[in-house]
Amino acid sequence: MYRTNNCGELRLANMNQEVVLAGWVQKSRKFGGMIFIDIRDRYGITQLVFNQENNAQLCDSAEKLGREWVIQVKGIVAERSNKNANIPTGDIEIIVSELTVLNPAKTPPFTIEEDTDGGDDLRMKYRYLDLRRASVRANMELRHKMAFATRQYLSEQQFLEVETPVLIGSTPEGARDFIVPSRMNQGEFYALPQSPQLFKQLLMVSGFDRYFQIVKCFRDEDLRADRQPEFTQIDCEMSFVEQEDILQLFEGLTKFLFKTIKGIDLPNFPRLTYADAMRLYGSDKPDTRFGMQFVEIKDLTAGKGFGVFDNAAYVGAICATGCAAYTRKQIDELTDFVKRPQIGANGLIYVRYDADGSIKSSVDKFYAPDDLKKWLERADAKPGDLLLILCGKTEKTQKQLSELRLEVGTRLGLRNKDQFNCLWVFDFPLLEYDEELKRYFAKHHPFTSPKPEDIPLLDADPGAVRANAYDIVINGIEVGGGSIRIYNSDLQKKMFSILGFTDEQAQAQFGFLMSAFQYGAPPHGGIAFGLDRFVSIFAGLDSIRDCIAFPKNNSGRDVMMDAPSSVTQEQLDELRLIIAEKTQ
Ligand code: AMO
Repeated sequence: MYRTNNCGELRLANMNQEVVLAGWVQKSRKFGGMIFIDIRDRYGITQLVFNQENNAQLCDSAEKLGREWVIQVKGIVAERSNKNANIPTGDIEIIVSELTVLNPAKTPPFTIEEDTDGGDDLRMKYRYLDLRRASVRANMELRHKMAFATRQYLSEQQFLEVETPVLIGSTPEGARDFIVPSRMNQGEFYALPQSPQLFKQLLMVSGFDRYFQIVKCFRDEDLRADRQPEFTQIDCEMSFVEQEDILQLFEGLTKFLFKTIKGIDLPNFPRLTYADAMRLYGSDKPDTRFGMQFVEIKDLTAGKGFGVFDNAAYVGAICATGCAAYTRKQIDELTDFVKRPQIGANGLIYVRYDADGSIKSSVDKFYAPDDLKKWLERADAKPGDLLLILCGKTEKTQKQLSELRLEVGTRLGLRNKDQFNCLWVFDFPLLEYDEELKRYFAKHHPFTSPKPEDIPLLDADPGAVRANAYDIVINGIEVGGGSIRIYNSDLQKKMFSILGFTDEQAQAQFGFLMSAFQYGAPPHGGIAFGLDRFVSIFAGLDSIRDCIAFPKNNSGRDVMMDAPSSVTQEQLDELRLIIAEKTQ
């Protein structure tokens, strides 16, 4: 037997027991004739004591141990004279009588402790060592618990977990596919699923009624803190449901996870239409941990000779509570923030409502205090507040104001990671027009159904058609999204044609789906949660990378195994692939 106990479980109640522990040397220190070693495993850290007086030879061996060596010790549990309240085993130590080195180790490239000296790149290269750190492992444990509780909840609700294939044809979800060449079918390629969307719909045609899968999805898109090229979805589909059934059931799942894992009782989730979300927050995934909703003041600004406002389609303001005392420098910082190329505003206009009731603004030349007072009233500003105003084209300005709102929220400490605000955003537009390509794209995906009352608009004004689609948003992050599907082959055909597919293209790519719809497809709908995003919100992480065991870096590389990498000429020959010159 390698061990009688793990390194996290011994307590005073185990006093005088003879135990065997196995684990890694976290650190060692010499103190007079004693050597103290912290031994670590997944479950915790226990202090080992080697006493020169009791056993000089054993002490010599202990002195030779380096960090991260794998050892096994036998000894007696004793009460510690110098207790450590910071660790659960801090009341005891093991007086060691036998030491076996199971495997020596090279000195690790960074310290395997909470305050590690390893930078990001180094820790990614040696991810297996980084995963030894308690905080990193805690994220993986949380991930396990969330996946486990999800299975429990869905299984109790009659959902069946069904695996769907990974080597498939292309499924349009808006990103590029990763493609895999086929050796047996030369010149042809599989795509890795961007999601199991089509399979789960087909499972509904097969009568499975309730499906789920915790499943890897692959999308070749630009990476961000909340995006990885391969990520995991909690993917779900149900038959004979309407939007309301899905919102109820998955609000239930979210509440269940918060309750069982974090002990938090969430109130019912507010619901916001897409149009309201854009009007009030300039975003379809608003962070509702704080207010600071937009107020439109275009009508109040007109006709005073200020061309910037007069020529703008939209003039919108947010009220930064208690910020009237912001210094010139602080306002300049916010101005620089909105003028950054990623945000792209031309400038920022402000109105200070000083604590003494006086009003000053950066547009005093054009507006008298009485004019400005009306803006402040509309924004419900109080003395001491600061009004921040952006103007320009409506959608663009709303997006810029949304970024400013988040920045001010962060500066004011309003985005507390221990507070969780969930909401549903629904009634998304079905289609989005791409000005450059001069065509419509599906906002969610091409299988999403239009709202029945908007179907007549499909020909006349496709951009105005709303979808039976919904997103679940937590603290400003889109954690999940889904829709009620089209289940009629004619409507599906029409959708493909609006999206610019010829009949032949639609038939070639999705003929099987439209054919399946002719064999008794039930009304159905579903949703997929991003598990990585869900876990990172629970853990308060800034990036989903930290809750993925072996993530990719920002260039989509696995720096540990150095993938992607070139393959041998034989492999290329077998696939009949020729690599073109590298593009710069
Ligand atoms: P959607 O594309 O909205 O819907 O994806 C669902 C959820 O998956 C997560 N997600 C990601 N997480 C990490 N990295 C990525 N690159 C990434 N892309 C998406 C998000 C998102 O909300 N088939 C539909 C679902 C449906 O209609 O039922 C779909 O995939 O949290």
